[in-house]
Amino acid sequence: MSTGDLFASDADPRDQAAQEAEALRAQLRHHGHLYYVLDAPELPDAAYDQLFQRLQALEAQYPELLSADSPTQRVGGAVLDGFASVVHDVPMLSIRTETDTTEMGALDFDRRMRKELELRDEAPELAYVAELKFDGLAMSLRYEDGVLVRAATRGDGAQGEDVTANVRTIGQIPLRLQGEAPVLLEVRGEVYMARADFEALNDAQRQRGDKTFVNPRNAAAGAVRQLDSRIAAQRPLSFFAYALAQVKDASGQDLSAALGLRTHADILARFQAWGFPVSHWARVVQGGAGLVAYHQEVATARDALPFDIDGVVYKVNDLALQRRLGFVSREPRWAVAHKFPAQEQLTTVLAIDVQVGRTGKLTPVAKLAPVFVGGVTVTNATLHNEDEARRKDVRVGDTVVVRRAGDVIPEVVSVLLDKRQGASEVFTMPHACPVCGSAATREPEEADYRCTGGLYCGAQRKEAILHFASRKAMDVEGLGDKLVDQLVEAGLIEHLPDLYRLQLDQLAGLERMGEKSAQNLLDVLQTSKSTTLARFLYALGIRHVGETTAKDLARHFGGLDALMAADEAALLAVRDVGPTVAASVQTFFAQMHNREMVQALREVGVHWSEQAPQTEATGALAGKTVVLTGSLPTLSRDQAKAMLEDAGAKVSGSVSKKTDFVVAGSEAGSKLDKANSLGVPVIDEAQMLAWLHAGS
Ligand code: IVH
Repeated sequence: MSTGDLFASDADPRDQAAQEAEALRAQLRHHGHLYYVLDAPELPDAAYDQLFQRLQALEAQYPELLSADSPTQRVGGAVLDGFASVVHDVPMLSIRTETDTTEMGALDFDRRMRKELELRDEAPELAYVAELKFDGLAMSLRYEDGVLVRAATRGDGAQGEDVTANVRTIGQIPLRLQGEAPVLLEVRGEVYMARADFEALNDAQRQRGDKTFVNPRNAAAGAVRQLDSRIAAQRPLSFFAYALAQVKDASGQDLSAALGLRTHADILARFQAWGFPVSHWARVVQGGAGLVAYHQEVATARDALPFDIDGVVYKVNDLALQRRLGFVSREPRWAVAHKFPAQEQLTTVLAIDVQVGRTGKLTPVAKLAPVFVGGVTVTNATLHNEDEARRKDVRVGDTVVVRRAGDVIPEVVSVLLDKRQGASEVFTMPHACPVCGSAATREPEEADYRCTGGLYCGAQRKEAILHFASRKAMDVEGLGDKLVDQLVEAGLIEHLPDLYRLQLDQLAGLERMGEKSAQNLLDVLQTSKSTTLARFLYALGIRHVGETTAKDLARHFGGLDALMAADEAALLAVRDVGPTVAASVQTFFAQMHNREMVQALREVGVHWSEQAPQTEATGALAGKTVVLTGSLPTLSRDQAKAMLEDAGAKVSGSVSKKTDFVVAGSEAGSKLDKANSLGVPVIDEAQMLAWLHAGS
């Protein structure tokens, strides 16, 4: 029993603080171990930092709670059994880190430096080096007579781990210095993993069925701490040098003056000369305004960088001034880190919804308890598709890590499995569209479920109308994006046949639509009613039925009723129709609402002339595969294509051994070369016309 219990009620704030501090320490120890020793954190850094800062605040408020074994008294992690421990000649310090700053925080730093240096207002601006704060792990590299002899992690700052064998495998780190080398050199910098390398590594891990890494920093830390350096060598690590610990001659004298190192910028230049990578983002800037501008520039560029950063670092450039500024409680006074908003946070999943996109794609979306991440409040995060949702096994009620980087859609990165409570259900994709109720299917080799409702589905309505009206479909000129938006939003079009029921006064009432253009549109709509079966089929937007397939189907069946009645075998008999197309056509016409819509379109006057079925291709070029390339002297590409197809040819986009001949115009490029190399006959427009003429 603590003494507090004897005197205070349960509500004593001191007592409560003591309990809270003890609980926080237990949590921090647990997560510190997972993070530092096992390289398997469960908390995003921001959440860990929050706990840490809360404990710091409590200890500051009640100093009697502070104990020597508090995690706040030991920055860094334990030394692993497997690595020899290294005592740093020069301690590896950390720098003062300020969170929740804006770019304007730089002005405070500048003001503080000027005050410490007792500079008068009229004294010139201070020069700084502004750098990126790399999100990797700090490394100290020791060179004797120009040869890398030891690489050590930071550890607790005084004592780290000897990871030389692993660090030697990092191609960017010189094993021998370039040019003239001092007797002793110790360079500090950051080992990190580039984003692309991280993605590739995780892909490989996944393919082997191995565990994936949460982020590039953990992957880098895991690689550096590999006991088997052959494995470490397969992990793609990178390095940036950013600080000089010591440079000495044989008698132990400091060489920096002799090497002409008067500024931090001199040091970075010297590093580069020795062969170390130095980020080209390190830049000398003048005064607070220079730092502010740098901060803004980096914040904008952050997401496009090839590696993760978590902020910027400002350093006084002049080394003599650095010495004058000195240290406060083991942190250099001449440097500061300003952290950017965390891009990952914890929250809970309230529900999993399925959204339907404009093209019918179904996307599972996690509805989240609101959380501030990446600078905005996030309430939704995409789960991408069924496989992703299953791989991450996100369930309602779960505590999850959400990530939002820049303008990218927020996503669920992972689930904290040990926080899952009770019986939760595995998420499954619905087999019906949540918007229109049509069947939702996923085809082999595809990641996404799609609603098969097409133009019947509210979510796809606009897209379906635009497609229906497009030039190669019903060719309703003037019915563009903006107009379709207005028509749908005003409730004038729910289903396609409504297009042909529009009235002049309805249209003329729309934004930027006078009576004249309204009448024009009605005229175009009227004209479009007279079409071909091929165009009509294409206009329906049946999945996998493009322009060419629509033509094949129209030619083969001759009329719509025959097509709608066709079974799988009948569909497979059509030239170039395989199981995917056959299934898609069948699914489409199996749905009553689609049949009704087709019927309604016919009733409002859409018509075409039905033909006799042509199950065998006929015409002068029946069964021939032709490729068009370059610009023809008199015919447009579409005209030539239509003529060839009317003659029974199939017009393909690429040349292969199966191509029967190529029609080439001027400026024909790679397709012509390919035809020549494969020995495919090449003709010009005149010759093509002559052939077509002879055959008809
Ligand atoms: S300078 C005495 N520069 O941030 C100054 N540190 O506490 C030594 N870091 O763990 C550090 N980018 O690993 C410096 N451009 C940069 C840095 C940087 C990342 C890390 C470093 C350390 C922490 C600073």
